[in-house]
Order: sequence, then structure tokens, then C-alpha cells
Amino acid sequence: MDSFLIKGGAPLHGDVAIGGAKNAVLPIMAATLLTPEPCVIHRVPNLSDVQFMSKILASLGAEVKPQGHSLAIRAAKIKGVGDYDLIRKMRGSICILGPLLARQGHAIVSLPGGCVIGARPIDLHLKGLKELGAKIRIDSGYIHVRARRLAGNALFLGGRCGPTVLGTANVMMAAVLADGVTIIESAACEPEVIDLADFLNAMGARVSGAGGPTITITGVKDLHGAEHEVIADRIEAATFAIAAAATNGEVTLHGARADHMRAVLDKLREAGVKIERIGPALKISRNARLKPVDITTLPYSGFPTDAQAQMMVLMTLTPGISIITERIFESRFMHVSELARLGADIAIEGPSAIVKGGKPLSGAPVMASDLRASAALVIAGLAARGSTQVNRVYHIDRGYEQMDVKLRKLGARMERLEET
Ligand code: EPU
Repeated sequence: MDSFLIKGGAPLHGDVAIGGAKNAVLPIMAATLLTPEPCVIHRVPNLSDVQFMSKILASLGAEVKPQGHSLAIRAAKIKGVGDYDLIRKMRGSICILGPLLARQGHAIVSLPGGCVIGARPIDLHLKGLKELGAKIRIDSGYIHVRARRLAGNALFLGGRCGPTVLGTANVMMAAVLADGVTIIESAACEPEVIDLADFLNAMGARVSGAGGPTITITGVKDLHGAEHEVIADRIEAATFAIAAAATNGEVTLHGARADHMRAVLDKLREAGVKIERIGPALKISRNARLKPVDITTLPYSGFPTDAQAQMMVLMTLTPGISIITERIFESRFMHVSELARLGADIAIEGPSAIVKGGKPLSGAPVMASDLRASAALVIAGLAARGSTQVNRVYHIDRGYEQMDVKLRKLGARMERLEET
């Protein structure tokens, strides 16, 4: 397994291009299963999760052709099941369930299981599909769904922790081919849901209200092929912005969507980070001492859980106490014990991490546990004195395209140690 060796202390300077959003492209790829016609997706980030989703689509009979940052997908005929060995490796792949059911009238997909950030149940996905008329049976670790015809319905998708992003995507993708009108209440409002709705509408679907808590879908008979450009990755942009602030550098983000990043930009400003709009780009710098800020992760448009770990690193570098509360995933503090190895002073009290910041971090070998925790460890390594080796960076390659290459271009002293 590859690792990153980082010599900390160099401020990041320069320009970085933000790629297409991982969490938008995965459901959009799944949506291509809804039509036998060819679809083309542009601004596709080159990530192992995307390659993985391509493998899943191919295993279902689709032809997937990557070309640079575009993907041509044609699911002329589909067959087979969402196999355990494929699904368990990437939980996001559960979003093939809705399109498979809508297209074929039945689907068999493995239950994805939990992951290090929490149990990650799919009860809300199944509840939504049931309310569209699907019969659901769980057998030997597989979800069997069947519906001769899906029928539109008014349904509520809110759960214990609020709305569900992929659950909303799954129900939306099933409802586009259902008879009649579906109204999803307490739908997820994330920009990735809007991007999926835009793609579905380009395919001939009738989806309105995406981006708000009520989405209305009027079913159509069939969908056709479409071409679509994926939105910018707001979490990649947030990660580079935080890395710039953490290293006291000055980085201009190109292609980032400030309108999708309000909560993160607001907290960065509150912490003393300077954010300037330069035409369509965002320049991040630090003009003053950092100030501690309290953060609670929430569904969009609140502070994203996917930027919580990175922001925690910034707070370890900030004199004073900040309280970071995780409200989306119950175990998303795996980075805390690794940050402690670099000298961070963080105590966990229930869903909150109490960060006593301001002591300089010093490099150490650390272990990446999941995608965003790994990104946080890289930022910590960039800001720490001495050398940090971040092991198991395959987690980073799942969701950041060439993070090491992009960071080196910004002046980071780091190299990828490839396992031979
Ligand atoms: N939940 C349920 N029941 C369900 C579904 C979700 O209780 O049926 C709970 C979850 O356990 C969690 C909360 O609802 O407590 C929200 O989970 P959600 O379903 O919104 O998460 P997701 O759709 O599985 C996506 C992203 C995650 C991101 C979350 C929250 C993709 C592929 N994944 O997951 O991204 O953290 O939304 O914004 O879109 C990442 O990129 O690192 C990542 C983990």
C-alpha cells in the first residue's frame, strides 16, 4: 500500500484546479442504467471510486469508456446482480438499487454493510422504494426488490440524523420511471442531489424542487441518453482551502463553487482566514492569527461532515479551545487518535471533540482510516514540524485526484512511496 512522506513547514502557494465532485458523479453514473441509450459525462474526476463504479456498471452489462475526464456509458442491456464483493468495497454503490429496479422491475443488490465512519444503515432507501410499491426481501445478505410497476406516492425520507443523500438519489431515480407523481418530503438538499436531478432532466425526466426539502417527480415512460458536466467538488475545494490556511500560505482555487461552500467559507472567515473572489476563482490566505471556532456538522447547507476532520486540524493549530460536534456519522473521529500522535490535544466527549489548540504539531508516522480522515492527516503533516508518513493513502486516491501531485505544485515537500 502506498504512503505519503511529508516534510512539513512549507506554506502552500499558487493555483489549484478543483475537479468534478465524487459524490455527484457516482449517482450520475448509476443513473445511466436508466436508459439503453448512450450517455456522456464530463468533468469526471480520475478517482479509484469512479473506476470502481465503472467496474460495477460493467459487471451489470454496461459499456463504460473513459476518455480523459469524460466517460461514455451505454447500458444497452443490463443483467446480473450487485455483487457483494463489489458493493462492500464502496458503500456509495448502493445507488444502483433505484435505477436497476426502475429499469428492470426487479433488482438484487448486496447489502453494503457498515464502514469505519458509522453503521450507515439503508432503511430509508428501502422505505422510500417500498412506498413506491416495491416488494423488498432480504435474503443471505442481498436485497431483493421487485415491482411490476412502480407507482408515484407522497413520502417522507427524514431519518434520525436528518435527510439521506444517497437515499434521496435512489428514490428519485426509481420515481422518474414510476406511474404518476412522487413527492419526496425531507429530501436531502445537497448540491450533488441538484446535479443528479439536472442529469435526470437532461435524460427526459421531470424532476423539480431539487436543492430544497420537497422534490416532485412526475414519472415518464422512458428516458433517453444525455450529456452532462459534473459540478465542482466542494469538499476537495474545502480541503485545499483549509490546507492553505493551515500552512499559512496563499492558494487560489480555480473552478470551486463558492455558492456550494458557504458554511465552510463562513467558518474559515470566522477563524481569521481571508477569502477573496478573483473573478470566478477564490483566493485563500491568512492575514491574522487564527481564532478558535465551534463547529457542528449538519445536513446541507450546514457545515459538511466531509470537511470536519480537515477543519479539526486547523483548530489544533489555533490557540484556544474549539468544540467540534459531529451530528451526521457517529464514529467519524477516527483521525483524533492519529492527530494525537502528532501532539494534538483533543478530548472526545460524546458527539463532540474538544480541541485545545495552539501547540505546534510534530511529524510522526500515522495511519489513514477513511477518506476525509486521511485528508486531515495530510494537512496536519504539511503543517507539522519534521516528517510525517501517512500510511494507507489508497483511501485518499478514492476521493482526491492526484492530491500529492496537486500539493507538490503548490510547494508541498512530499512524495508518494509506492509499495513494490
Ligand atoms: N441514514 C439512515 N438510514 C438510511 C440512510 C442514512 O439512518 O437509510 C443516516 C446515516 O447513518 C447518517 C445520515 O443518515 O447518519 C446521513 O447519511 P446519508 O445517507 O446522507 O449518507 P450517504 O448518502 O450514505 C453521502 C456521501 C458521504 C457524505 C454523506 C453526508 C456519497 C457517495 N457519500 O453518503 O460522503 O458524508 O452523504 O453528507 O455521496 C465522503 O465523501 O467521504 C463521504 C463519506
